[in-house]
Amino acid sequence: MDRAAHTPGAIVCVVGARPNYMKIAPLMRAFRAHERLPAPVLVHTGQHYDAMLNERLFEELELPPADINLGVGSGTHAVQTAEVMRRFEPVLDEYRPACVVVVGDVNSTLACSLVAAKKGIAVAHVEAGLRSYDRTMPEEINRVLTDQVSDLLYTSERTAHLNLAREGIAKKRMHFVGNVMIDSLLQHRRRAVAPPRNLPEGFGVVTLHRPSNVDRPDALADSLDILRAVSEIVPLVCALHPRTQANIASFGLEGGLATERLVVLPPQGYLEMLGLMSAATVVLTDSGGMQEETTALGVPCLTMRENTERPITVEQGTNLLVGRDRARIVRLVEEIAATGGKRGRIPELWDGKAAERIAQHLAGWLAARTPAYA
Ligand code: UD1
Repeated sequence: MDRAAHTPGAIVCVVGARPNYMKIAPLMRAFRAHERLPAPVLVHTGQHYDAMLNERLFEELELPPADINLGVGSGTHAVQTAEVMRRFEPVLDEYRPACVVVVGDVNSTLACSLVAAKKGIAVAHVEAGLRSYDRTMPEEINRVLTDQVSDLLYTSERTAHLNLAREGIAKKRMHFVGNVMIDSLLQHRRRAVAPPRNLPEGFGVVTLHRPSNVDRPDALADSLDILRAVSEIVPLVCALHPRTQANIASFGLEGGLATERLVVLPPQGYLEMLGLMSAATVVLTDSGGMQEETTALGVPCLTMRENTERPITVEQGTNLLVGRDRARIVRLVEEIAATGGKRGRIPELWDGKAAERIAQHLAGWLAARTPAYA
């Protein structure tokens, strides 16, 4: 039967920035494969627009090109969020979807959920309930507000339910489904690209892009100083986000990376990054997603932040929070180089089936609300 014929309203899936793509890819696949769900519509807000942060990842994740690109681009938080909202509203008027699915915690996540909620359209937030309890992080504000306006809160770890309950959110809106980012990792792991042969033996991998580490000259100089110290223990391969690259240049800190023991690469594709992380002695990062990916891969991770919204990676996985504590980082890297470091175990429901669980639940939920879905 023509599925579109009994479709009362589409499911609109939203992506904006790099960490969204690996979360939405398995969802798009699961929605398409589900017999009771209409084909999903993919909207890219254009928050990230660089080819290296975009096209390559879409291809590698087998994510179809977005049906609509809002072309928003960079700006202050207010400008970027407002621009996404302004441009997303007419999309909802045109498609009249039954549900908008948002993932993660970027500005596009909050902007689109707010527009949908005010139009009375159901919002499903995937990766709900994570909290760093640090409101200096723009992502924390995005998380709290997105969860407040979402109808369905799909969670990746059980601590999320405690966080949500504390904010007065009813239990029946929360659904523990596992981790869609790990769905992508498990699906693509076998296709990971082996690291270039010319990289030094036993290397560690670095990514840094959080405002707290790279937006102030003193913090960025500190971070680079730590990398130099670590590189004397294990050689480092550093994949630089455009934001970090731009700040190094504008603060005149290029000298901070000038050591033979530190190889600087542009932002990497998904399969390249999987290959690098899998082969790494240690990962040093301030990324949210890489804390989870290293836990799934069993690779030691030192997170250069004071807090994490993903505590399970510390409690059960391979992650340790180290901030910019140079002495501690050096000591831990020495230990990891000598002993292999923390082993960890795989958290509950990080099993590659989270997107299928979401599709199954969403189909039932929509059927109960929208007779035409039944
Ligand atoms: C965004 C997310 C962050 C996520 C990160 C992953 C928010 C608040 N932040 O941070 O949670 O971890 O993506 O990459 O949504 N830029 C480019 N090319 C691009 C996009 C950005 O050069 O395609 C540069 C611009 O100088 C821009 C800066 O990066 O001003 C910041 O971009 P923005 O999208 O605001 O935040 P990210 O730092 O990328």
